[in-house]
Amino acid sequence: MDSGDDMDALPQPRDDYTTGVLDEGSVPDDPIELLRHWLDAAVAAEVPEPTAATLATVDRDGRPDARVVLLRGSDERGVWWFTNRRSAKGEQLRANPVGAVVAYWPLLERQVRLRGPVEDLPDEESDAYFASRPLASRIGAWASEQSAPIADRAALEARVAEVEHRFPDGPRTRPPDWGGQLLRPGQVEFWQGRPARLHDRLRYVRSPRGWDLQRLQP
Ligand SMILES: Cc1cc2nc3c(=O)[nH]c(=O)nc-3n(C[C@H](O)[C@H](O)[C@H](O)COP(=O)(O)O)c2cc1C
Repeated sequence: MDSGDDMDALPQPRDDYTTGVLDEGSVPDDPIELLRHWLDAAVAAEVPEPTAATLATVDRDGRPDARVVLLRGSDERGVWWFTNRRSAKGEQLRANPVGAVVAYWPLLERQVRLRGPVEDLPDEESDAYFASRPLASRIGAWASEQSAPIADRAALEARVAEVEHRFPDGPRTRPPDWGGQLLRPGQVEFWQGRPARLHDRLRYVRSPRGWDLQRLQP
């Protein structure tokens, strides 16, 4: 391989950010409300996977890990997603029940970051969501021991066939280890790209009175 100076450099398009603004005077008092606005805007802009976000967790040795999940809901408690609680992320959250979530919508020049404790979503909410999922997703949830190694693709498909045999009408109840995980944010930061790298950053910090708002330097 050549050893040119820039062999390892990634392309760096110098985009200027001109799409929106974030103004302390016009944002809602509640960051979850602003997050809803931004999710709605991402849906309206027809970006691919508008609710996709990276979830970071920490393992028992303090080593970070991260993966993409789909946010499935938000309310005054925080945001949640669904997963297998025996997966790597599940085990990490058992050891260290805190997480960080970051979503980025390039088309809208927006990033949002949330940090806080993570807990299981109440069972009845996980039950209701599982029951609403398409058949193939329900079968998949029963068939996959998420994050565990498996010999090959054929072995995975054999597990799917077993689930189909076991539940001829399709599984109605959720697998015991599958369910929602709720992040209750203590901090939520909104980032809006602005020209000349003078981006807007507003951080909400939970306080006994509600939420405090700070502007951060870009
Ligand atoms: C766009 C996208 C959406 C995903 N959504 C989910 C999800 O909602 N829940 C989930 O458990 N995994 C989801 N995944 C898979 C995870 O990124 C990851 O592979 C899986 O959860 C296992 O992670 P872990 O071994 O760290 O637990 C998604 C992946 C992508 C690329």
